[in-house]
Amino acid sequence: MSVASLQGRDFLSMADFSTEEIQALLQLAAQMKAGAVQVRCAKVLGLLFQKASTRTRVSFSVAIYQLGGQVLDLNATVTQVSRGEPTIDTARVLERYLDVVAIRTFEQQEVETFAHYAKIPVINALTDLEHPCQVLADLLTIQEEFGTLAGLTLAYLGDGNNVAHSLMLGCALMGMNVHIATPAEYQPDAGIVERTRAIACDRSSVLLTQDPYEAVTGAHVLYTDVWASMGQEDLAATRIPIFQPYQVNEALLAQAEPKAIVLHCLPAHREEEITDAVIEGSQSRIWDEAENRLHAQKALLASLLGGVSS
Ligand code: CP
Repeated sequence: MSVASLQGRDFLSMADFSTEEIQALLQLAAQMKAGAVQVRCAKVLGLLFQKASTRTRVSFSVAIYQLGGQVLDLNATVTQVSRGEPTIDTARVLERYLDVVAIRTFEQQEVETFAHYAKIPVINALTDLEHPCQVLADLLTIQEEFGTLAGLTLAYLGDGNNVAHSLMLGCALMGMNVHIATPAEYQPDAGIVERTRAIACDRSSVLLTQDPYEAVTGAHVLYTDVWASMGQEDLAATRIPIFQPYQVNEALLAQAEPKAIVLHCLPAHREEEITDAVIEGSQSRIWDEAENRLHAQKALLASLLGGVSS
């Protein structure tokens, strides 16, 4: 049986898939993780990365191997990308060799341009605007914990960054309430906020606040990320005092629902955005979340490439 529901599609934004399509992806990921479904997909995945990566690079590589395919690591330093070959040329060449490509870069426009010129599926493996593959794994982790997504509340604390953007869209699509607590000058992108509100409509709520305690009240999931993303490390010293009230620590966690879980996309700066005690505590699901990158992306690749299940 084919799992080709998303065959040939791109995944550039969390909002590229409908609620039903995400539900189907999460179901396939859970079935593959449990060993209830095996999928074969002997295709070639290219990883075109212009930024460092541990989880995304390794989980995509292992995912395509486990599907019976191959991976080519095309980081910018070993291709002509580092010498300025235009994206529109790279896209039209690589589509003739590869079956699918995952791109980690800076501008969202770059993955959109690549996808426009390449007929193969293009996956956003992180841009400055979004990190949708991370959020697929996050949703899988939350669903594993609570058995459902609709009606739950996720509180994100920290920088209104790419992870926050994809979480906002993903939560709204799945009927979750989303609370975002950031300093005033680090709020999420206005266009993403507008889109999230339009998706949530009257199904779920979207709260933007500068008060971390307001955000976590009633929350089932607490989520944070580093206070300075890749390329912004020089700003870390400036940011630390501004972000300190948003640290996920035991006092903040005590304000959430008693069975709340804690997620972090990693890598973490321990004792900055999250304390050691919380990362290592009983409510942390951070390592399951990291593992789920593999299962979610394996289901994604199988669906985009039309894998055959047994
Ligand atoms: N969370 C995440 O994307 O990790 P990497 O940067 O290590 O891929």
